[in-house]
Amino acid sequence: MAINLKKLCDSPLLLEAIADLVKSMGTSIVIQDTKGRVIFGDESKKAGSQLPIEIDGEVIGWAIGEAKVAPIASIISCFAQKELEKKTLAHEVLDNYREITFLYDLSEKLTASLDIDELVNLLLAEAKELIKATSGAVMLLSNTGNTEELKVVSAFGQEWNRDHLRIPLDESILGVVVKNGLGEIINDVANDPRCMDFEATMSALICIPLISKGRPIGAIALGNSSPVTYTAADLKRMNTLAFQAAAAIDNAQLYQESCIAATTAQLQAEKLQQALRELQETQSQLIQSEKMSSLGQLVAGVAHEINNPINFISGNLCHAQQYTEELLKILQLYQQEFPNLTPALEAAIAEIDLEFLSADFPKLIYSMKLGTDRIREIVLSLRNFSRLDEAQTKPVDLHSGIDSTLMILQHRLKPQPGRPNIQVIKNYGDLPLVECHAGLMNQVFMNILSNAIDALEEQQKPGEIVITTELISHKPRLLATTGEPMSHDGNESVLIKIRDNGFGIPEEICSRLFDPFFTTKPVGKGTGLGLSISYKIIVEKHGGIIKCLSQPGLGTEFYIQIPLKLSIELGKNSAATAVRRRSPSAHRSGVLF
Ligand SMILES: Nc1ncnc2c1ncn2[C@@H]1O[C@H](COP(=O)(O)OP(=O)(O)OP(=O)(O)O)[C@@H](O)[C@H]1O
Ligand SMILES: [Mg+2]
Repeated sequence: MAINLKKLCDSPLLLEAIADLVKSMGTSIVIQDTKGRVIFGDESKKAGSQLPIEIDGEVIGWAIGEAKVAPIASIISCFAQKELEKKTLAHEVLDNYREITFLYDLSEKLTASLDIDELVNLLLAEAKELIKATSGAVMLLSNTGNTEELKVVSAFGQEWNRDHLRIPLDESILGVVVKNGLGEIINDVANDPRCMDFEATMSALICIPLISKGRPIGAIALGNSSPVTYTAADLKRMNTLAFQAAAAIDNAQLYQESCIAATTAQLQAEKLQQALRELQETQSQLIQSEKMSSLGQLVAGVAHEINNPINFISGNLCHAQQYTEELLKILQLYQQEFPNLTPALEAAIAEIDLEFLSADFPKLIYSMKLGTDRIREIVLSLRNFSRLDEAQTKPVDLHSGIDSTLMILQHRLKPQPGRPNIQVIKNYGDLPLVECHAGLMNQVFMNILSNAIDALEEQQKPGEIVITTELISHKPRLLATTGEPMSHDGNESVLIKIRDNGFGIPEEICSRLFDPFFTTKPVGKGTGLGLSISYKIIVEKHGGIIKCLSQPGLGTEFYIQIPLKLSIELGKNSAATAVRRRSPSAHRSGVLF
């Protein structure tokens, strides 16, 4: 650092002191700089000894005069020395201030982020600001198998190519630095055997370990391809920077680990929840299918028991009819051949009213035949309904499934004390056979019709259930822009609508109808499984749609739509759980009318 003698002598204090001294000594003095320019005194009086004005042995000017002016030269030297010290101190203070500001800014930046990539990039950028470097890299310790190595996570300059992206701890200067926990300067890379890797391109290298909580977590290296000399001050600055950055990177790593742990925990919780949901669904399926299979078994048993005697009666009735006709014919023949009857026969004929009996007997046999036919129909319906265990799909007449279900529910449709009978209106369309699981579809009809009857049972007004079926053909859709056909899926489906004029469903519970165990019925009356099972059967087993539209006070309508032909995937195995779909709650229910 240089001291300008001219500026120094401009100080009024020094000037005054020199003037006083010269005067008191009764002499004159000329002060000039090293280039011979006069700074103080009269040039014409430049005579006598030339006394040096110096700082730390370096001459910065001359005092010219008699030998007795030597103390004045010493005083100016002393003054210059002090001035230099002041300047040096001021510079140090400024440097310290700059360093504090730099560290403050740095720590602000470092603590503002928990992103490891961001932090290592920042560290490298700041390091580049601190010392001259043509290349550099930040590495973090990582474990591959049983060996620890340094993995480059951010770099600049050509040295950090593919060969240097992973550095084994044992074989490099960086490994030494990390293991010892001490930074190193290598100003002559070419001659340091530990820097073999870098010798070709690098001239000087500075390597600093990243240490957090006393534990190495990585390193930072900066190098220069031109000959430079890194100093202890560079090492100190880099150490300070590395110390701060290491703590921030360590925190970010911990944060990242805790995020991963939290995500894992969250995933595990979700898996558990999913398992619980599946368990609940399986349980609900079990309960419902147990219920339905007991009902099916009962129905099948009853049908079987009735079937034999009714076949026996119905089979014999035709003979009875034939025998009756023949006997009556013979009787008529007797009357024609023997018109004169004995009084006893006449009395007996009058008593039994033979004329009426002969006319009524065939009618009686006929009505008995009608009765047995009806019973046979009922038995057929019961057997149809109880096809619960059939796993395979087959072409089914859905109308007969609905009719059988209504037959089973017949007793609930009849008038009850306090309410008239429930009228069932069938608007059956022209449906072909539908490929589906007959028993499961009956289960759906059973659930929805039972719910409708439940709703109608609670009201005074005449109850009505309207069942509408129709075949839907999906017409080819047209492109909005050109009006040309977009797709030709010739798929057809069947729509079954079951509407009741019951109390309806409040909007707030519409979205929960298909959730397992959701019920508004009292304990013992409803399990809340009917609709969730129906949802599974329609959506998962048949790839169809089920939705409910309702308006409180007016009624409820269920829409069931299934494809005419089951897709191969869904039809494969009815017992296997089909592809997972949206949860029932996500399914739309809404307001009708
Ligand atoms: N037609 C309807 N009218 C009014 N509410 C209905 C109707 N259908 C269903 N619900 C409502 O949906 C709820 C769920 O029906 P779901 O069939 O799943 O169970 P549940 O009938 O209560 O019991 P479960 O059928 O298991 O015996 C019912 O409790 C009822 O509140
Ligand atoms: Mg129900």
